[in-house]
Amino acid sequence: MTKLLFVQASPRGAESQSIQIAETYLGALRGDNPDLDVDAIELWEVDLPAFDGNKAAAKMNVIVGQDQNPAQKTAWDQIVGIANRFISADRYLFAVPMWNGGIPYRLKQYIDLIHQPGLLWGLKPETGYFGLLRNKHATLVLTSGAYAQQFPSPAFGVDHHSTYLRDWLNQAGVTEIDELRFQPTLLTKDPSGDLEQAKRRAVELAHRHGRV
Ligand SMILES: Cc1cc2nc3c(=O)[nH]c(=O)nc-3n(C[C@H](O)[C@H](O)[C@H](O)COP(=O)(O)O)c2cc1C
Repeated sequence: MTKLLFVQASPRGAESQSIQIAETYLGALRGDNPDLDVDAIELWEVDLPAFDGNKAAAKMNVIVGQDQNPAQKTAWDQIVGIANRFISADRYLFAVPMWNGGIPYRLKQYIDLIHQPGLLWGLKPETGYFGLLRNKHATLVLTSGAYAQQFPSPAFGVDHHSTYLRDWLNQAGVTEIDELRFQPTLLTKDPSGDLEQAKRRAVELAHRHGRV
């Protein structure tokens, strides 16, 4: 059975446009895949531990092959538990608003927790990073109020949002990525019409994905 992890990075719940578009995509995908196993992470509702000194030390110990002390071992076990939920999915669906040119900090905290050596990536001195995830697919739902690809940049903002997400996923080995953009959500004469259009594109993409 295919498992999809739905990562919600907006704190706006039912008001969130990125979550609404992602849910529309998911509804259509479920229509084509009634047995799809969906796991949702509401990043503003779950308890995300701080990436504190013990976690940073545990990570560095793994990189250099050094033993963990008891506090670092506890920290690493917690990291592995959170990362394994991510690793166990076959597909990812991210609902991510642009915040200050980048991603909301709860998503960055989540990435800092899960993006670990030996779990999502490895590093060779000669050739650099390599991803450890295989055969995964990600769909990114991206919203922003002012920034849009067709508007001049940097006047309307700079996209460290999709670029960061793609670079991170690529480094982890996720290279099959589709995007659903609703941009701009604010600087448009017809916000609700544009939202409906974005939802229609979400349904089309789900049907293109078909049986997953
Ligand atoms: C804290 C915060 C920072 C934001 N920063 C930007 C930004 O840098 N560029 C932009 O175009 N929109 C920015 N926005 C607007 C949101 O990206 C926009 O309203 C988006 O549609 C929200 O998506 P959501 O409904 O899924 O939360 C920001 C909104 C918030 C709350």
